[in-house]
Amino acid sequence: MSTTLTQTIITHSEEETLAFGRSLAAQLTAPQCILLTGDLGAGKTTLTKGIAEGLNVACKEDVTSPTYTLIHEYRGKEVLVFHVDLYRLETERELNEIWRIFFCSKL
Ligand SMILES: Nc1ncnc2c1ncn2[C@@H]1O[C@H](COP(=O)(O)OP(=O)(O)OP(=O)(O)O)[C@@H](O)[C@H]1O
Ligand SMILES: [Mg+2]
Repeated sequence: MSTTLTQTIITHSEEETLAFGRSLAAQLTAPQCILLTGDLGAGKTTLTKGIAEGLNVACKEDVTSPTYTLIHEYRGKEVLVFHVDLYRLETERELNEIWRIFFCSKL
């Protein structure tokens, strides 16, 4: 039997979202996949900025939405972070291709 734990975190400002991202980063151990879902402007990229800062792979100014580039790669001293926009993918095959080209070749 599997157990699902749900935790609700509410942030009230950009800075709080960044801070949550940084604290989330401190709990991560590679390899790990985090899926973010939310409407335009929901705060996905802001959270990613916080995670990237917490993992010491980039500063928040350098993290932008990979909307047109599909994937951004941030390499730190200890970890490698891929920020992928899955919104434009249409088939499982495309996802497999991304996995093969970007992740498998660099890990
Ligand atoms: N908790 C919050 N309260 C208020 N504003 C926030 C909060 N978190 C983030 N923001 C602000 O909301 C705006 C949109 O955030 P962000 O760009 O991270 O959204 P997104 O989900 O990545 O959007 P898109 O889908 O367009 O890429 C930013 O200006 C950000 O500073
Ligand atoms: Mg975004």
